Amino acid sequence: MAITGVMRAGHAQLRVLDIQVSRKFYRDVIGLVETGEDAQGRVYFKAWDERDHNSIVLRQADSAGVDFVGYRVLDAASLDQFERDLNARGVATRRIPAGEMLETGERLRFTLPSGHEFELFAEKAHVGNGLGLKNPPPWGPDAEHGMAPVRFDHCLLYGPNVAAVKALFTEVLGFRLVERILGPVEAGEPEVGIFLSCSNKTHDIAFVEHPNPGKLHHVSFRLNSWERVQRASDIMGMNRVPIDMGPTRHGVTRGETIYAWDPSGNRFETFAGGYEPYPDWEPITWTFDEFGHGLDYPTGTLHESFLGVVS
Ligand SMILES: [Fe+2]
Repeated sequence: MAITGVMRAGHAQLRVLDIQVSRKFYRDVIGLVETGEDAQGRVYFKAWDERDHNSIVLRQADSAGVDFVGYRVLDAASLDQFERDLNARGVATRRIPAGEMLETGERLRFTLPSGHEFELFAEKAHVGNGLGLKNPPPWGPDAEHGMAPVRFDHCLLYGPNVAAVKALFTEVLGFRLVERILGPVEAGEPEVGIFLSCSNKTHDIAFVEHPNPGKLHHVSFRLNSWERVQRASDIMGMNRVPIDMGPTRHGVTRGETIYAWDPSGNRFETFAGGYEPYPDWEPITWTFDEFGHGLDYPTGTLHESFLGVVS
């Protein structure tokens, strides 16, 4: 099946406590490319190999967290169809005009059962990766600046009503369940974690059950190799970036990963690896008693901060 409908993670707007400190961190330590600042003072970034104008937007606020995440759909007709399908499902939507975010078209905004503000959009200006489209080199200077992820890959969101979120994503938005984590046997093994794909990646978005709505667990940046993940860990050390977990490998999705904190307390991930689930994929299940290895495969450690701390 070709990728239609929702194509990929497009953008996330993060709240940060000091915009200048965070701007320097996302630009020089994570190694994103700064692409603009708007009249509200929001600062825009893209990963070096992304072609769209922006993927991470920072807004200064009194508390950390995520304002909204946006996913890019194939075209305007897809956006209209999703609006009809969501409304038919009883999900209220509203349109945010083109240009409210720099270089970004009209967005279709709605609230997930988990309390997150979620949006779909069809247009964002292509600015390219600086290498051109004719006989390009494989990488350029931006690929060596900071950790230099190739793209904003996915996010993990914490909130209530994971079962309803799964139904919305799989029945209306066209995502597939790739992996799931079950709760304790004595609680009836409810699905407490779901990894959903709209492509043939292991996940384009994931959710974990949590009593507080609208929480951010992490935004994730893709690197192209385990060696690049190790290089990212060196850069974290050089810059005294507090690490939450890793470098290690997840059992869930097989990702090779590090989790760390930005200066405001938003968790981010740098990762590589995984596999390619196609549409005939049967979901993988992790039972509660084995979840330590799902999280940290070599040691099986249930990292307390990873499980409980969100922004
Ligand atoms: Fe992740």
